[in-house]
Amino acid sequence: MTAVDAIAARLRQEVTGVGESPLVQIATVAEGMPGSIKLCYGESDQPTPDFICRAAGEAALAGHTFYTHTAGTPELRDAIAAKVNSLHGVSYQPSEVMSTVGASAGIFTAIRACIGPGDNAVVVSPAYAIFVNAVTMAGGEARSVPLARDGVRLRLDLDRVRRAMDRNTRLIVVNSPSNPTGWMISPDEQHSLADLAEQYDARILADEVYERLVFDAPIAPSFARVIADKDRLWTPSALKFIGSSQATIAALIAGHSVSRIEYQAVSRFRPLTIIWLCQMPSKRKPSRLAAFRLAVFKALQRHCIRR
Ligand SMILES: Cc1ncc(COP(=O)(O)O)c(C=O)c1O
Repeated sequence: MTAVDAIAARLRQEVTGVGESPLVQIATVAEGMPGSIKLCYGESDQPTPDFICRAAGEAALAGHTFYTHTAGTPELRDAIAAKVNSLHGVSYQPSEVMSTVGASAGIFTAIRACIGPGDNAVVVSPAYAIFVNAVTMAGGEARSVPLARDGVRLRLDLDRVRRAMDRNTRLIVVNSPSNPTGWMISPDEQHSLADLAEQYDARILADEVYERLVFDAPIAPSFARVIADKDRLWTPSALKFIGSSQATIAALIAGHSVSRIEYQAVSRFRPLTIIWLCQMPSKRKPSRLAAFRLAVFKALQRHCIRR
C-alpha cells in the first residue's frame, strides 16, 4: 500500500470514491504539450471586464474582506429576486434567495440538504460532473438517466426517468440548457418531470445557469414558471456571462421553508474566504462601495437583458 493509499483508507469513502475529473485529466495532459492553445475550461477566453476587476479590487482595498451575512446583503438578494421576476415573471422574496460562492456551492448545498445514505438522485445526463459527485459525497446513489437520441437531437425519455425512480428518490437533477450537450428542456417536459417529482415526493434541482445561452429564444424555459410549490424546487442560479466565470454572481433560490433551513445550515458552515461581489458587508454600515457593487450588479443585469 502506498502512502497515499494509506491516507485515503483513513478518509471517508464518499469523498475518496469521487474520481478525478476527466476534464482536468485531459487539460493536464494538454497543458504539458508544447504549443497547445488554452481554450479554457468551460468558459470564454475573454478577460474579465475592467469594471468588474476594479470593483473587486476596490472592495478588497477598502477593507471589505470581513464576514457578511451568510445569505448575502438584502440589496443583493433583492436584486437577484428582481432579476428572476423580470426574466421569468415569477415572484420570489429576497428571503428566498441566498447568494452563494459560485453555482457549485448552491448545487452542493441543495444536494446535501436532500441526499444522505439510502437516498438516490436521478440525474439527467450527460451532465456536468458536479451533480453525480455531490450526490456521492453526500453518501447517496446517483442514477444517471441518459437523454434519448431523436435524429440529430436529444430528448428527455420520461420512461427512463420513471424507471430510475423509487421511493428513495429524493431529487431529480436537470441542467438545461445543458453542459455539455446544449440540450434544452421544453415546458411540456418540465411539467411531466414536475408531476413525477410530486408523485414520488421528490424535489427538483434545476441548474439553469446557462439560461441566456439560447439562440432561437430570448431565454430558456425555467422550472420556476412550472412548479407552483416553491419548496419543491431548488434553482442554483448564476449570472454566468460576459465570458467570465470569475464574474459569476450566484445564488440558490428556493421556497421559504427550505430557504430557512438552508440559512441555518449554511450559517453553521461558513464558506471559505471570499472577496467578491456577493460578499456584502453586514458588520459595517452600508457604504458607497456596497452601492457601487449593487450598481455593478445592475449594469451586468442590463447587459444580459440587452443580449
Ligand atoms: C451546468 C453548470 N452548472 C454549474 C457550474 C458551476 O458554476 P460556478 O463556476 O459558478 O460554480 C458550471 C460550471 O461550468 C456548469 O457548467
